Amino acid sequence: MTTKIAVFASGSGSNFQAIQEAILRGELDATIELVVTDKPDAFVVKRAEKFEIPVFSFTAKDYKSKADYELEIIKVLQEKEVEWVVLAGYMRLIGETLLAAFPYHIVNIHPSLLPSFPGKDAIGQAMDHGVKITGVTVHFVDEGMDTGPILAQAAIEVVEGNRAATEERIHAIEHVLYTETLKQLFENKVNIYH
Ligand code: GRF
Repeated sequence: MTTKIAVFASGSGSNFQAIQEAILRGELDATIELVVTDKPDAFVVKRAEKFEIPVFSFTAKDYKSKADYELEIIKVLQEKEVEWVVLAGYMRLIGETLLAAFPYHIVNIHPSLLPSFPGKDAIGQAMDHGVKITGVTVHFVDEGMDTGPILAQAAIEVVEGNRAATEERIHAIEHVLYTETLKQLFENKVNIYH
C-alpha cells in the first residue's frame, strides 16, 4: 500500500526533492501529501510548488506555544491521512504534542555520525574537531536533540579544509540513504519498536 507522508523542512529542501524524485522514479511507494515549513520564504516552498505538493507554512511566533502550532499541524496531517512525518532540515525540536500523535512515526536525517555532533552545523562541528570520517544518520525522533534510536548510517571522508566539498559528499549520501531507509520502514523491514 502506498504510504502517505509529510516532509518538514526549514531550508533548501534538497532532501525533500530527492525523496520526491525517488517516488516519481517508482523507487519508493509513497506520496508526499504535504510539506510543512516554519519558514514561509524557504526554498523548499518553491521546490514543493514545482511538484504541485501543498505546503503548510506557519510562523512560530504567531502562536502562544509549541503545543498550539503543533495542534494545528496535526489537524492538517490528519486531514491528509499522513502516516509518517519525515524531517529534512526542519530546524525546530518536535514537541510532546506531535510526538504523541505520531508515536515511532517521525524520522529525521542528521549530517553526522550520531551520537557525535548533534545540533546545529554538524558539518562545521566535525570539521572544527578535525575528524577524518563523518557521515549521516537517519533516526527516530524523540524529545531530545538528535537523540532517538538510530535506523541507518553512512560514512564519508572529510575533504580537509574544504567545507563545500565535504558538504557535497554529505548531501549526495543523504539523498540516497534517506530514500533507502524510508523504503525499508514503509515495507516493514525494520523492527521499529526495538
Ligand atoms: C541536511 O544536511 C540534513 O541532514 C539536515 O539539514 C540539511 C537539510 O538540507 N538535517 P536540505 O534542506 O534537505 O537541502
